[in-house]
Amino acid sequence: MKRNQIKNILLFGVLCFLLVSALISGLNQNELTAAGILASQDSVLPADTSASPEPEEVPLARKVVALTFDDGPHEEITPQILDILKKEKVPATFFLMGKKAEEYLKLVKRMVKEGHQVGNHTYSHVDLSSLSNQQAKEEIQRAQEVIEKITGQTPILLRPPFGKVRENEVPEDLIVVEWNVDTLDWTGSSPAQILSRVQKQVKPGAIILMHDQYEGTVEALEELIREVRERGYEFVTVEELLFF
Ligand code: NI
Repeated sequence: MKRNQIKNILLFGVLCFLLVSALISGLNQNELTAAGILASQDSVLPADTSASPEPEEVPLARKVVALTFDDGPHEEITPQILDILKKEKVPATFFLMGKKAEEYLKLVKRMVKEGHQVGNHTYSHVDLSSLSNQQAKEEIQRAQEVIEKITGQTPILLRPPFGKVRENEVPEDLIVVEWNVDTLDWTGSSPAQILSRVQKQVKPGAIILMHDQYEGTVEALEELIREVRERGYEFVTVEELLFF
């Protein structure tokens, strides 16, 4: 009897020891995992990636691309683009002409409501580099005010028409965004041509240039989203991509 009691106490002790060690090692493992996650997140912070200027290296940890649509809103094309983006749950970035935003303000409101980002594409789509400094600033400012008034948000992105702007024309609170994948949809390309250009050029960190102005763009969009997703990419707004 006594011997059995001692045996039970010893057994209980051993079990307690095992239980406590398992808990401790479990905790350690959790800590290590958390540190591992933090470490891998650290490696994609802009501070670290700024050291490597290769744009391909920026979002390697997560394959992200941004769809951008310029020159809108367009009365007929933009709603179709928005319908597809909504159905596919894809956030995009629209670079708006101030003049058209004023005209189709409901579409601008819809963009923001459905989670898209809107940026400045000047008021009347001019080549800013051909204007005086003062005129260029006014073109940008006027679009800024129109968008602010409609959305209640101040755009932080500027895409200069034709990709042309002089550095001293850009207000301090705007980031100039160009593109690195050109679909050339404005040249009257077929959906197949648009798709093929994206397939050839898509890469992590891609900013894809399109226009919510053409039927071909609408027709290519669903397939484009499907194919890019099949390659393991995730769609984000330009802001998310830049500050990733
Ligand atoms: Ni444009």
